[in-house]
Amino acid sequence: MTPANQPKALTLSVEKIGAENALSLFNCGQRPVDHWARKSALKLHKKGRHKVYLASAEGYESPIGFYSLSMAHRKAAKLLRQEDRDGWHMGAPFVFLDWLGVHKDHQNKGVGRILLADAINRTMIVNDIVPVYGLALSSLNKETTNYYEKLGFRMAPGESADANPLMILPIFTIVELF
Ligand SMILES: CC(C)(COP(=O)(O)OP(=O)(O)OC[C@H]1O[C@@H](n2cnc3c(N)ncnc32)[C@H](O)[C@@H]1OP(=O)(O)O)[C@@H](O)C(=O)NCCC(=O)NCCS
Repeated sequence: MTPANQPKALTLSVEKIGAENALSLFNCGQRPVDHWARKSALKLHKKGRHKVYLASAEGYESPIGFYSLSMAHRKAAKLLRQEDRDGWHMGAPFVFLDWLGVHKDHQNKGVGRILLADAINRTMIVNDIVPVYGLALSSLNKETTNYYEKLGFRMAPGESADANPLMILPIFTIVELF
């Protein structure tokens, strides 16, 4: 039995954004993320430029988190291992995590990890249809770089922690995780 003074665990579901702009008041505390969520997420999802996924929690009307995916291509020099740079000498396709945000009131409860696990799962599905090098993102700041590193992402060659580094979770790591 859960002790009365212990916070109740969130029951989460992750689904594609619907017809309404459910992110119109989204607030994770990072201006560029909030601005994109409020103003562009639904528009670009409808245009087919990004796929936006929302985390909803039982008992909360508005989404408590979101992420968005698109495809991207990066040159061979950015790949992690020499054998990859040789094998993908024209560069490689990635599933790209463009944005990730958890509402301020729900940070540090594992929601970000759940959203990332969902994005990783979708990367596996894409890779089952067409090969991709992995899941990539551009990290917002040093704290997020640490956060992603703890979850298995690695900084691409030549990237600096000071300048929104390209970070990669390669498909060979994802396959091992599964
Ligand atoms: C970064 C973010 C997505 C993490 O999601 P979360 O649900 O709060 O984090 P989780 O509960 O999954 O993980 C908790 C860990 O994240 C760390 N963390 C919490 N907030 C963080 C933040 N703003 N930046 C970096 N790391 C953060 C915690 O220190 C904790 O680390 P620990 O496991 O070593 O104790 C979320 O804090 C957020 O939306 N931040 C603002 C927007 C942002 O920075 N987006 C990322 C753009 S690249």
